Amino acid sequence: MMRRSIITGTGSYLPERVVTNDELAERVDTSDEWIVSRSGIRQRHVAAEGEVTSDLGTKAALKAMEAAGVTADDIDMIILATATPDLTFPASATTIQKNLGMTHGYAFDIQAVCTGFIYALATADNFIKAGQADRVLVIGAETFSRILDWKDRTTCVLFGDGAGAIVLEADEQPGTNQDRGMLTSHLHADGRHRDLLYVDGGPSSTQTTGFLKMEGREVFKHAVTNLANVVGEALEATGLSADDIDWLIPHQANKRIIDGTGRKLKMDPTKVVVTVDRHGNTSAASVPLALDEAVRDGRIKKGDLLLLEAMGGGFTWGSALVRF
Ligand code: UT7
Repeated sequence: MMRRSIITGTGSYLPERVVTNDELAERVDTSDEWIVSRSGIRQRHVAAEGEVTSDLGTKAALKAMEAAGVTADDIDMIILATATPDLTFPASATTIQKNLGMTHGYAFDIQAVCTGFIYALATADNFIKAGQADRVLVIGAETFSRILDWKDRTTCVLFGDGAGAIVLEADEQPGTNQDRGMLTSHLHADGRHRDLLYVDGGPSSTQTTGFLKMEGREVFKHAVTNLANVVGEALEATGLSADDIDWLIPHQANKRIIDGTGRKLKMDPTKVVVTVDRHGNTSAASVPLALDEAVRDGRIKKGDLLLLEAMGGGFTWGSALVRF
């Protein structure tokens, strides 16, 4: 038998306000046609004034806990993946802990930008496997609208706000690749590419928050290569093949990148979960948002094999194979 980390509940939250491409075309020199053809994005959600990352994360976490049938008393650890915390410190995970009425356990943020949820999931899985946690809230929550230069058409049309969460619980499984739970995870980083995707401010450098800067075309090329590699690693590590995957749940940055990864795996496009058209790129929230959508609409069923992957600033990238 082997201790595995099982997903027992998923949840998500999107701010009420929807911003369409046509609305953006009134502010910057762009068009719905350009945004849809280059990225697949049609709209994105934007947080209300005063609505912060921990608010989004708390709402997603409550839904995941409800789905799992647990209360805050049952949670022993909270990991929040975010690049847009409420404050420089404390970790927004501790604010979520407070919002949930928890005073026990421990909580911290993970910063791996768009790969944040995969990093957080891998971290939670290892805490569970080590026996240091039994039930973990893993959350991805972002308010990228706050770090966008709304005059820069090359970036402001691409991102959105949102949050997704899961409850991850320890469970004894036989120890084969047919087990339920996390089967493998693979993380990577290469800090040499910082200048291709970064935010030009921070507490230790400018004492400001800064704005997102991206060389989109260059990031695109790296994303296609890195994602193909890290997806291959997950299959190799488990002895499973692309045919075994029931659902690909990719980071939602660009429909063309998602289609490229799906094609490499020879996946039936109906087995790829896509939300980028309605959410835009919500960074660390995108994978758990897509996961929750496909769980709630009944596509993902117990026992299905899920391949999660993401790539983002750092560069960071990673994958996880999970049997739901
Ligand atoms: O989540 C983290 C990882 N991030 C990503 O994975 C994003 C990766 N990159 C991308 O998704 C794509 O590169 C973009 C969607 C950002 C851009 O698509 P592209 O096909 O690579 O376009 P491009 O950057 O090559 O730009 C083509 C043209 C340029 O004009 P010139 O230089 O060809 O005259 C841009 O100035 O489109 C212009 N352009 C725009 N035009 C209208 C750039 N942004 C816009 C815009 N509206 N919003």
